[in-house]
Amino acid sequence: MDQPVYLDYNATTPIDPRVAEAMQPCLGPLFGNPSSPHLYGVAAKKAIEAGREQVAAMLGCSPGEVVFTSGGTESNNAALKGVAEAYAGLGRHIITSAIEHPAILEPCEYLTGKGYEVTILPVDEYGMVAPEQVEAAIRDDTILVTIMHANNEVGTIQPIREIAAIAHAHGALMHTDAAQTPGKLPVNVDELDVDLLSLAGHKLYAPKGVGALYVREGVRLNKFMHGATHEQNRRASTENLMGIVGLGAACHLVTTNLGEYAAHMGAMRERLRAGLQGALADTRVNGHPTLFLPNTLSIGFRGLDATDILVELVDSVAASAGAACHTDQVTVSAVLQAMRVPFEYARGTLRLSVGRHTTPEEIDRTVEAIVGAVRRLRGLA
Ligand SMILES: Cc1ncc(COP(=O)(O)O)c(C=O)c1O
Repeated sequence: MDQPVYLDYNATTPIDPRVAEAMQPCLGPLFGNPSSPHLYGVAAKKAIEAGREQVAAMLGCSPGEVVFTSGGTESNNAALKGVAEAYAGLGRHIITSAIEHPAILEPCEYLTGKGYEVTILPVDEYGMVAPEQVEAAIRDDTILVTIMHANNEVGTIQPIREIAAIAHAHGALMHTDAAQTPGKLPVNVDELDVDLLSLAGHKLYAPKGVGALYVREGVRLNKFMHGATHEQNRRASTENLMGIVGLGAACHLVTTNLGEYAAHMGAMRERLRAGLQGALADTRVNGHPTLFLPNTLSIGFRGLDATDILVELVDSVAASAGAACHTDQVTVSAVLQAMRVPFEYARGTLRLSVGRHTTPEEIDRTVEAIVGAVRRLRGLA
């Protein structure tokens, strides 16, 4: 039997074979401690700096502005807590949105407990943060605005540049969680006009357990991980050599192939959407009608429970649910709730995310499997 079609690339991606190839020496001869002065250490240090240059090339920044971390969550924590502490003398107000990942909302909650004030902005029905809402919420004591580049569940792309202009006009820093966007959208720190930006390796065909934080030159950040002076004294701990080499290679692939990746994913996502909506009535695509990630399809099937659909699909398609069913209660995801997606669609929402290796044949198998499952659950087949 075929393996289930993997359509959960927003949860994580496989390691690209070219990334694996680049990492291979780290399983053998390239093992030195990058801080060691001997030849083994120098070779490791060189590999790390090459990786840093590849990340910087993708982001359009200088290598010295890239700090390696353990992933998206650490990058977000380092940015939020680091800025909050370093700029507490200027103010203690932070602005974020209701559709952020828990890796933003939890640090915000933590900071609230430490005496900071966090404004959580609502979104519209498309999952979009309105720059006017940022303008209305920003104050003299606002030190940071943090809004994600694009949403992991529904794919809506946020107006980061416009929001950054408002933050900067009021003397606040701008951070964006870009865990979901490399390889799908251009991620250039100057075009986005951000001061800090988080990356997660495993969302872009690099391994798990590595990430990066872009910190614009001149931005102060209190150290989050205390210890020795690694990463220009910004993040202690011996570097994750293999992860960094992999992240660098993954960023290089994005720099050279972004157009091709985005076009392919866009075509696969559209084939999937058209196949499902052509065959089934009472469906609803969640997210912005035009400003969405090319690989993400959040689609609700009216009157059904997402967990029931996924049970039907267990052998054919691997995807995520927009709602979870616990005993007799359905919990709709915070993102769909914030967008006020009608309950009868939200409870039956699947998040299908395609990847750069997804094939038309896999999409056709998925359409057939989902259409069959939905018809059975609706008592139509
Ligand atoms: C938008 C977003 N931010 C942050 C994260 C967390 O990244 P990591 O798993 O690398 O810690 C994720 C992963 O689910 C994400 O989708």
